[in-house]
Amino acid sequence: MAITFSKDRSIFSLDTQSSSYVFAIENGEHVRHLYWGPKVRNAADFQIRPVERVDSQDAAIDTMAEEYPPFGGLRYKTTAIKPRFPDGTRDLVFRFVEHSVRDGNELVIHLRDAHHKLFVDLHYRLYDDLNVIKRWVEVENRTSADVELSTLASAYFNLPGTDYFYSQVTGHWSAEHQIFRERLQPGRADFQCRKGLTGNTHSPYFILDRGATEERGEVYFGALAYGGNWNVTIESTQFHWVRVALGINSFDFALRLKKGERFATPAVFAGFTELGFSQMSHTMNDLARQIVLPQRARERIHPVLFNSWEATKFDISVHQQIALAKKAAKVGVELFVVDDGWFGQRNSDQAGLGDWVANKKKFPKGLKELTTAVNKLGMEFGLWIEPEMVNPDSNLYRKHPDWIYEFKNRTPTTARNQLVLNLTRPEVQKYLFSVIDALLTENNIAYIKWDMNRPISEPGARNLAPADQCSLWLRHTEAVYELVDALRAKHPHVTFEGCASGGGRIDYGTLGHFDQIWLSDNTDATDRLLIQEGYSYLYPIKAMRAWVTDVPNKITKKSTPLEFRFHSAMCGTLGLGGNLTNYTQKELALCAQKVAEYKRIRHIVQDGHVYRLKSIANGRFHAVQYVYRQAESVLFVFLTAQKYIESNYAVRLRGLDPARRYEVVRREDKFVAFGDYLMNVGISLKMMGDYVSELIHLRATS
Ligand code: GLA
Repeated sequence: MAITFSKDRSIFSLDTQSSSYVFAIENGEHVRHLYWGPKVRNAADFQIRPVERVDSQDAAIDTMAEEYPPFGGLRYKTTAIKPRFPDGTRDLVFRFVEHSVRDGNELVIHLRDAHHKLFVDLHYRLYDDLNVIKRWVEVENRTSADVELSTLASAYFNLPGTDYFYSQVTGHWSAEHQIFRERLQPGRADFQCRKGLTGNTHSPYFILDRGATEERGEVYFGALAYGGNWNVTIESTQFHWVRVALGINSFDFALRLKKGERFATPAVFAGFTELGFSQMSHTMNDLARQIVLPQRARERIHPVLFNSWEATKFDISVHQQIALAKKAAKVGVELFVVDDGWFGQRNSDQAGLGDWVANKKKFPKGLKELTTAVNKLGMEFGLWIEPEMVNPDSNLYRKHPDWIYEFKNRTPTTARNQLVLNLTRPEVQKYLFSVIDALLTENNIAYIKWDMNRPISEPGARNLAPADQCSLWLRHTEAVYELVDALRAKHPHVTFEGCASGGGRIDYGTLGHFDQIWLSDNTDATDRLLIQEGYSYLYPIKAMRAWVTDVPNKITKKSTPLEFRFHSAMCGTLGLGGNLTNYTQKELALCAQKVAEYKRIRHIVQDGHVYRLKSIANGRFHAVQYVYRQAESVLFVFLTAQKYIESNYAVRLRGLDPARRYEVVRREDKFVAFGDYLMNVGISLKMMGDYVSELIHLRATS
């Protein structure tokens, strides 16, 4: 059984296929964490020793590993929950009420405050074949007055010892997901966002390893399913425990729970492996594809798309887009997406956001002329929108200047000439639903790219009571999810791509509501290899859009060959974003060949497992391999710069079945070898030049 409970000793054990997670209820009040790691068969073996106080400055309760420590008593460690009751009390004293098990795979620990009727339920749902535990917390106010919560973690973890390395990403617009790994030092490592979205800098997750490599070693990891203000705290304590808390950021946060109200925090998906970073990535890829992503995205192989942004920016017309569509269809594109610039008075980023109707000059006969032409060419049609925003120069703002977030007696700050709509207002939610619903109903639209190009500022909402103002950040994110979900329910055939100035909206919350994400506005094929690599640690390749664009690259000014750009973008879900009307016949022929090749291997990339073999983070050679059920594999190799006369590059493959034979196809060459040969001896490649790349395809023959 996955969830076991020993009654006499109050020990709970949550077992997945290869891990155990164990805690106990102590004295009917403390939920004491005992263990998380490789599987332990018998929870009854656990010896629960009393926690001793160190001295009067460090009480036993502060050194104890607790599942969800409230602020209270002599606790000064990272807090999971902090309430404020009307009588001024600002702590919580837990009493264990009972436990319950749902569907055989979800354990709920029911707690309450010793005095106030505030109930706190800790949820643990097991995905035992994936070795993942989903955790979240539900709080219910059964007192007769309001209760405020200013700290409210989704999950809290205790890891034994302090000898860890942590990995995170860092970056900014056009340089997202740069992965780094550091030795954990005493004190706190804090990662967060305060902008009202996930942000382009860090990612809401933790990765803690004990000297792991790609192939082996212990790794603990957990990702928060939330794209609003978030916080991840890793605390390395003096008492030989590491504590990790993930959840809604406490900064400028307060949630007022009215009498009778219940709130469920965003979830955290957490896992443990002894098989290194690759296994962590496989686990999260599988989790996303089987559990997290919207049903449609789980089942679908994503089409090759064309996106107009880099090709035509704001300078759009129906005939020019039809001309592009014709070229796109010819090279095998399946979905044609018009990015920014098609609506309102959107001739630059100065105006138009909020007016979601086609610009009359650019589309005199409405969008239909283009969608019909695109459909006739055998492609689906998609559109860019930025629903949460408004330009002061727009009909929407002129009509409803009070629909934005603002503080009284302050001038609202613009960024990219735009303001943020107050999505906590029901009228705004209604307006956005009706205008996007109309777009989807009146036009044959199969794809929406949903952008958010600035953070929230002056977080004040006229419609909210003073006591609710600091819940605005949370309510905004909830409103976005509700809006997308409502649109999906009415238009189930539409795919949604999440985007925020490139990769500002990448997290497991977004992935629960959007089918795909835009990784970065930086489409430079070399930079992209690194950005994609950072992304691949915890996020699913299937959701990752990647475009082949023109050179010199619009952002980096760097030039790379077309084939290199294709191979880089083929490591995700392929898109084209160059101005195809300027391409030579030879270039178009290469596009057609590469798109066709991608269609043959895309199930391996989108639904396979990724192996990071070599990285240009450490040199000039990069190799990434995808394996689909040990039956097929594709290897991409990249050499970014020639050095002396070096030309020999060896790659040991991974993830194959050692006992099966594979046919290896490399350009015109073919050979057959057993999986063990390919994984232990490897493939040796001769490569010379700057920006050369290859795709090598493997198929099991036995
Ligand atoms: C953001 C997106 C881009 C593009 C532009 C349009 O920057 O990341 O892909 O859609 O907005 O304005």
